Order: sequence, then structure tokens, then C-alpha cells
Amino acid sequence: MTTITIHDEKELKAISAIALESHKALRASNPWLPERSIKDFFVRLEWMVNEGMVYATEDNSVIQSFLGWFQLEDFRNVGPGALTPDWAIGVAGALSAKETAIRISPLIRNLLTDIRNAGLSIHGIGIPDSSRILMEEFSLLSWGKIVLDAARSTRDLLDGLMDNAHTDSLPDTSINIRPALLSDASSLAHLDEQLAAHIAAPPVLMPNTEGSTTDEWASWIDSPNNLTFVAEENHSLVGFIKSGPPQMDVSWFVHSEQTTAICGLWVNPECRGKHLGESLLTELAKIAANRGYSLTSVDCETHNPEARSFWLSHFIPVSWSFERRF
Ligand SMILES: CC(C)(COP(=O)(O)OP(=O)(O)OC[C@H]1O[C@@H](n2cnc3c(N)ncnc32)[C@H](O)[C@@H]1OP(=O)(O)O)[C@@H](O)C(=O)NCCC(=O)NCCS
Repeated sequence: MTTITIHDEKELKAISAIALESHKALRASNPWLPERSIKDFFVRLEWMVNEGMVYATEDNSVIQSFLGWFQLEDFRNVGPGALTPDWAIGVAGALSAKETAIRISPLIRNLLTDIRNAGLSIHGIGIPDSSRILMEEFSLLSWGKIVLDAARSTRDLLDGLMDNAHTDSLPDTSINIRPALLSDASSLAHLDEQLAAHIAAPPVLMPNTEGSTTDEWASWIDSPNNLTFVAEENHSLVGFIKSGPPQMDVSWFVHSEQTTAICGLWVNPECRGKHLGESLLTELAKIAANRGYSLTSVDCETHNPEARSFWLSHFIPVSWSFERRF
């Protein structure tokens, strides 16, 4: 087995085929995910060859595995880092853990050597939920989980929420859930500050977090592609949920015109545990279904336990991101 750096079209086609095979395995258990073609992978991997590095192992001139990365200017608010998105890793065939390790470890050696030589000391990688053996391999090699990307068909999400006995009516009837108005922008900026502080505090400990300003909230609410609901008690906001078109930090596997990606949820501490989060999610799912968003996605820090538990109760994992610092 030899290790090569991907350069030409033939090699790119070979690794795109491995990426597509891996994606088919992911879609086999999650058929509501948008379909991807070999060309979709080719275009992305070609970009990575030009902007970063892509390595592969080959046996008798047949490519068996590949791994790519590129440099991010700001990795999760800590500065420059290297990133391998969930579409930029793959091992051909359904292999055992041992066979997978044999095919992936030379690529990881190259990756860490080149990252270190580039002056970087942090690497993040997304791994599809269907690639359990790869996840275990990275875990054993000292990478730890940081982010969960999850999704669900909006119809299934809504059916699940409606089946849930406590979602139709809030226990505390003084709380009203309604779409956000422009006049909510300043109160939302205040709640968002608390959400940012929550992400900055233990156990997440994300550095340099900040919420959106009043002006940013006003333009967010104004955009027809965004959905925002607030929970109000005695004319004061106690929670919100928002979603919009998936951004760059959301797994590409969920990106489509029909996807709405949840990118914020907050419930004031004194109101938690009373299904207010669920009620906000229910209202969002109802309007998402009405507006034709057939897929709803979310991403969250895995080291945010309440959020992780909340999202895993309603969504299905698509990809897990890991990071290693050295
Ligand atoms: C996540 C959050 C919105 C949930 O709001 P909520 O109104 O308490 O949610 P609900 O009452 O509808 O559901 C509670 C669920 O949260 C999870 N949860 C609540 N407290 C938890 C805890 N201490 N540990 C683990 N999970 C917990 C559980 O899944 C629980 O469901 P269950 O009661 O059926 O087990 C709220 O905890 C919050 O605002 N957290 C801080 C902000 C945040 O992390 N936002 C998400 C960003 S991705």
C-alpha cells in the first residue's frame, strides 16, 4: 500500500466514487437526506485539492481511502485551524475496524505532519453517522466529539411532536408563543447575549462568543427566508427559536433549497423543563411544513448537555464533528 497526494482527474474521480459510496450508506438509513451525485463530490474535492490537501492510499494502483483538509482562518473562535468536512473522508468497501485503521492511519500521519508544519495546532473533522468504525478510530487517536449535525423530515418531526401529549398546550397558560416581530429585536438581542454567555460558560467553554445585535436581529426577522418564534410572558420575552437557510458551518449533507436549519434556541432558566422548548420547536415545525421546507436540521455542541439531550429527542444524527488540539 502506498500513500499519494491527489492531483489529477482520474484520482479525483476515484475518491469521489468512494465519497459517494459512503454517502449512499448514510442515505440508506436516512432516505430523507438530499441526494448527491458523483459530480457533486467531484466539484467539492477538486476545490479541496486546489485550496488544501487531499491524500489517498492505493493498493496495486487502486485507491482504497482518502482524506482531505483545508485551513480555516478562525476555527470555532480560537484562531486558525485545519478542517476536514464530512464529505472529505472515506474508505472503500465495508471493512473491519482493523482494515479501516490500516487504510486510514497513513493519511492521518500525513495530515498531522502537514498541519503541524503549517503552524496549526488544531484539527476538526466531520464524520457521517453511518461511519461508526471511522468515528471509533478517530476517538482512539485522541480526537473528541464537539458538534452534532442532526436533521429530520419536517413532517416526521411534526408528527413526533404532535404525538407527544404535552406539546399542544403549554402548562403555564400565561406564556404565549408567536412569530417574532421587528419590535422584538432589542429583547431578542438581550436573550441572545444570555445564550452566548451560556455557550461561553462551563461545560462548553467556547471563547469569544457573542450574540447578534439589535440591528442584526431586525434584519434577521425582516428576511422572508428566516423563521423566528418567541415565547412571551407578561409582555416580556422568555425564549426564542430561529431557523434559516443552512450556513457554511452546517453539514453540506443537509443543504438544499427545502432545508431550514435551526441556529438558535433559548428558554430562560426559570421556565425550563416545562416543555417550552418543545412548544417553540412545534410552532417552528408547523410553519416550516407550511412553507415547503421538507427538511429541518440543527447543529449543537455535544458538550452542551441539555441542548444535546433536547435535540436528540427530536432529530436524527447525520454527522458528528471531532477535534484534536496538540
Ligand atoms: C435546551 C433548552 C432550550 C430546552 O428548553 P426546555 O424548555 O427546558 O425544554 P423542554 O422542557 O421542552 O424539554 C426538556 C428537555 O431538555 C433536556 N434536558 C433538560 N434538562 C436537562 C439536563 N439537566 N440534562 C440533560 N438534558 C436535559 C431533556 O431532553 C428534556 O426532555 P425530557 O424532559 O423529555 O427528558 C434549554 O435548556 C436552554 O435554553 N438551554 C440553554 C441554551 C441552549 O443550550 N440552547 C441550545 C443551543 S444549540
